[in-house]
Amino acid sequence: MMSTIREVADRAGVSTTTVSHVINNTRFVSEDVRCRVQAAMDELGYWPNALARSLRRGETHTIGLVLPDSANPFFAEVGHAVEAAAFAAGYSVLLCNTEGDCAKEQSYLDVLAEKHVDGVILIAAGDCLGSLPALSLRLPVAVVDRDLPNIHLDAVLADNRQGGFLATQHLYVLGHRRIACITGPSHLTPSAERVIGYREALAAAGLPVAEDLILRGDFHPESGRRGAHVLFALSDPPTAIFACNDLLAIGVLRAAAETGRRIPDELAVVGFDDIEIASYVFPQLTTISQPKLEMGRRAVLRLLERMTDRTQSPRRDVLAPVLVVRESSQTPAR
Ligand code: RIB
Repeated sequence: MMSTIREVADRAGVSTTTVSHVINNTRFVSEDVRCRVQAAMDELGYWPNALARSLRRGETHTIGLVLPDSANPFFAEVGHAVEAAAFAAGYSVLLCNTEGDCAKEQSYLDVLAEKHVDGVILIAAGDCLGSLPALSLRLPVAVVDRDLPNIHLDAVLADNRQGGFLATQHLYVLGHRRIACITGPSHLTPSAERVIGYREALAAAGLPVAEDLILRGDFHPESGRRGAHVLFALSDPPTAIFACNDLLAIGVLRAAAETGRRIPDELAVVGFDDIEIASYVFPQLTTISQPKLEMGRRAVLRLLERMTDRTQSPRRDVLAPVLVVRESSQTPAR
């Protein structure tokens, strides 16, 4: 049986109001009284009832973070930044891993609403809105990384089109003329925009877009590895591959090793995200760095701003990606 605040007050010889002030640090209490109350809570095994406190205050000081794949380092690094910024602002974070599934995302959004979180940061599973419009009327929602064009919410995004352009332009400048692209899921805005940037860079260089050099992947290493083998089997294989995320690119590195291709002399590879492991694989991966920490920090900032002012129009922060050149694309094309 859980002990109550009344039992703590009786044990310490104070009022329940005083116990509440000690717990919430909402008024000066003498050291003697504070020690008596703390001793009574320890002896009785009393824990403040967060749910009761939340109901009284109408806030839980909790933020929901909904993301597609907590095992993917990109989301883990963004989530780490969200948690740090939220904790610094006095909020706890409830992590919801949707595995890229719309039904699971919907279920988590319902759970977060029932738990009366103070706001939600959403990296969407796809273009599935579900109850999101209704939810966003009840509590602040900030979208990160994956844009949702059909709903107007605060959004913190990377300029994926620019990132795809930079990756492809880098390979062209090295002298590559057969530049392939292994994409992520085409329904996800980051991948679709990176491919647009890839096409625009080829057009800007006066190169034709060879459709047989664009292969669909799923943002996981195995589809990068398999896609690379398909490209290697072409009669006129590419000398460079732009992979739309680092995990795909690491799969390409594996395929190159399996076929004895030397990187970067015989094949240049560029990824996207700049996850921490990108600079530890061999050869080190050239990639387009997303401002992951700033995306997480900015998302919390926008959510807190929305909590204090629900009337302001949605803000869109589009952050610039950066080309980071490493071993996998350091020498000119043969
Ligand atoms: O690695 C996961 C990918 O999906 C990243 O490029 C990120 O932009 C997310 O959308």
